[in-house]
Amino acid sequence: MGQILNKGRLFLLVLVLLLIASACEKEIVRTDKAERTIPLKTTENKVFANEKIKIGFSMDTLLEERWIKDRDLFKEAVEALGAEVEIMAANGDDALQISQAETMISQGIDLLILVPHNAESTATIVHKAHLAGIKVIAYDRLVKNADIDLYVSFDNEQVGEMQARAITKLVPKGNYVYIGGASTDNNAHLFKKGAFNVLQPLIDKGDITIVYDQWTKDWQPVNALANMKAALKANDNKIDAVIAANDATAGGVIQALMEQGLAGKVPVAGQDAELAAAQRIVEGTQSMTVYKPIKALTEKAAQLAVALAQGENVDENQKVNNGKIEVPSVLLSPIAVDQVNIDDTIIADGFHSRQDVYQKVKE
Ligand code: BGC
Repeated sequence: MGQILNKGRLFLLVLVLLLIASACEKEIVRTDKAERTIPLKTTENKVFANEKIKIGFSMDTLLEERWIKDRDLFKEAVEALGAEVEIMAANGDDALQISQAETMISQGIDLLILVPHNAESTATIVHKAHLAGIKVIAYDRLVKNADIDLYVSFDNEQVGEMQARAITKLVPKGNYVYIGGASTDNNAHLFKKGAFNVLQPLIDKGDITIVYDQWTKDWQPVNALANMKAALKANDNKIDAVIAANDATAGGVIQALMEQGLAGKVPVAGQDAELAAAQRIVEGTQSMTVYKPIKALTEKAAQLAVALAQGENVDENQKVNNGKIEVPSVLLSPIAVDQVNIDDTIIADGFHSRQDVYQKVKE
């Protein structure tokens, strides 16, 4: 008897819960003709309601050439998929990046895609987005110690390996300077790790000596210039090769070398295939850069963002540990570029025009 009563209560409870759930899922819409019910606007239902998926893109900065390409190409790729994107850039300000992301979250975006200025402090953005039921993708740079849903980038360790391989080929022995990126950016650590994967055995053999090794605050070329000046001074200009974490910092390094009449004599590696770097390569003041096809990155990121926002499962079997979880990841391949293959890579891809690259040299 007691069991029957319990079953009856259980049945009633389930019924009440079902009624509450269905009341929550529907809103009444009055039309001219009749009253009809439609499902509440959850992201999945946007597809049925024919509403556009809205992606929020929170960027660290737009100060470097590459990020302008990322912004424009990502917008293009998202729109080509029938979705829309709101973009905000924080110009290297952690607090601003957090408040911009909060604004987008409160405006009801369906998914947040994030280029963190600071790998650690942006974890709070991920947490806030999740509380609002919004998934988060880390774009190009990883967010550390957060339950990030997906990470889309290049193989950044490989970037550093490519730089060191190219430079050690030119200078197998000698005094090396390493000009790192911003220590707050996880990528800067990966680039350095990659470079030292190649350098360390040569250091151990005694062929290479690292005479200066410094991070560059906020990736700013002026800080790289100051670091390189300090490196030259501390070593009486006896420097044989430089690996700079990107083209912007390589620009600062080359300016410092120029002031000492050493530009073009000391091989320098960079990364990003910025136009200024491509021009320096054909002129001979920079030895190489690493080209990361931004279009491929934006297209992949847009496709995954829209799929995730629609509630689809995206199965990415590569995993990257961010200190908290194994983040499902997509890592695209970078390409080493020097004077020999510049035409067949960045120019052939339309990343820069031939005219722009060779603008300052007579062919
Ligand atoms: C990116 C580089 C860029 C650097 C500075 C890194 O996280 O991977 O491509 O040059 O940030 O913005």
